[in-house]
Amino acid sequence: MVAISPTHAHWCMVASTLEAQHFVRINPPERVESKPVTDPPTDKRTFLFATCQVGAEQALKDEIVREHPHLRLAFSRPGFVTFKAAAAPGVDSQFVLDSVFARTYGACLGTVTADRAAVIDMAKAMTSPPLRLHLWSRDLHAPRDAPLGYVPGELSAHANQEIRALHATGLFHSDVVATLGDLVLDVIIVDEDVWWIGCHRHSPTHSPYPGARPPIPLPRNAPSRAYLKIEEGILWADAPLQSGDTAVEVGSAPGGACLALLDRGLRVVGIDPAAMHPSVLSHRAFRHIQRPMALVRREELPASVQWMVLDVNIEPGAALIGVDRLVARMRDTLLGVLFTLKLNNWQLVQQLPRFFDHVRAMGLHDVTAKQLANNGREIFVYGETAKGMARRRGP
Ligand SMILES: C[S@@+](CC[C@H](N)C(=O)[O-])C[C@H]1O[C@@H](n2cnc3c(N)ncnc32)[C@H](O)[C@@H]1O
Repeated sequence: MVAISPTHAHWCMVASTLEAQHFVRINPPERVESKPVTDPPTDKRTFLFATCQVGAEQALKDEIVREHPHLRLAFSRPGFVTFKAAAAPGVDSQFVLDSVFARTYGACLGTVTADRAAVIDMAKAMTSPPLRLHLWSRDLHAPRDAPLGYVPGELSAHANQEIRALHATGLFHSDVVATLGDLVLDVIIVDEDVWWIGCHRHSPTHSPYPGARPPIPLPRNAPSRAYLKIEEGILWADAPLQSGDTAVEVGSAPGGACLALLDRGLRVVGIDPAAMHPSVLSHRAFRHIQRPMALVRREELPASVQWMVLDVNIEPGAALIGVDRLVARMRDTLLGVLFTLKLNNWQLVQQLPRFFDHVRAMGLHDVTAKQLANNGREIFVYGETAKGMARRRGP
């Protein structure tokens, strides 16, 4: 294993020295008054950690080395990868990682041997409280390989409670959901007795939830887990969907995503040759076109469509060509797209820039992508039209 700030005592010494030296100004300014904060070391010996889906490590390594040439691969376990900053600008808690596959990331501070008290001491030495505590365990299984009944994060629930029971009042916020500018202490259970400690300052490039796993409940009547995928995607993109909007989903069966959209008050047209679940089919705001997308005539679609959703289990290039024709029909009213692109073959990762260009060519701006916690071997892609951006900005 690569040695990073090897001992707890060493880490405390570094942290308290920095406490005296580096106070970081953050927005909004009133926070600085009430909550002076200290960042970890920012020199080129600093390491970066990133977590990802099990199986996506190589895709993550490739894109990080490509997008951030000063980072070199260091220690790696399934679902957990670290990088060493070999040159300036180094890594600190405010480092911005450009990555589709990194679910979480931050500056590495060291490791502890599952020692709850050591985590508390680290937090105390690090900054003026309160900190956000994000403690979670790396994924143990690839989405398709998880044994029946496996619940991601089960390992961390107990440790979380113990640390919170031990901590001095005011050291950690009681709520885990980070807000802009918060300094977050990341504790990642990499192996049962090896916990990696890191930190990041919360910004829009980070999820506010520990391990980037938002607690979205799956309704009993959801026909599929795609309900969670679309809900997480909407949350991640902060997509400005509104009740009364119309969405078209290509690849809609059995209907998890459609149900999520219907629950949000949207009208939904589902395109899929397969059967929809009765709970969706019977909804009065739902219409099913039971055919492959290539056989759908554009006139069959509503005149005004705000959101295009894509979740077909075919190669992404072919899927995008297929929806092109339908999106063209919606150009005057479309606000945005929520696409799931399947990566059944990891070689497809090389083509992601081409796929993103394709989405931009449909008239979408600010195209962003992420492999979300609820994604299988696939990524979520979001884009907004100029009209969608105007809605986001408000009147
Ligand atoms: C992952 S499932 C979709 C799950 C769905 N979004 C949900 O929320 O439950 C993929 C779907 O794509 C559909 N599909 C595959 N090729 C298609 C095509 N050319 N046109 C429309 N649907 C297609 C399949 O029939 C399948 O139901």
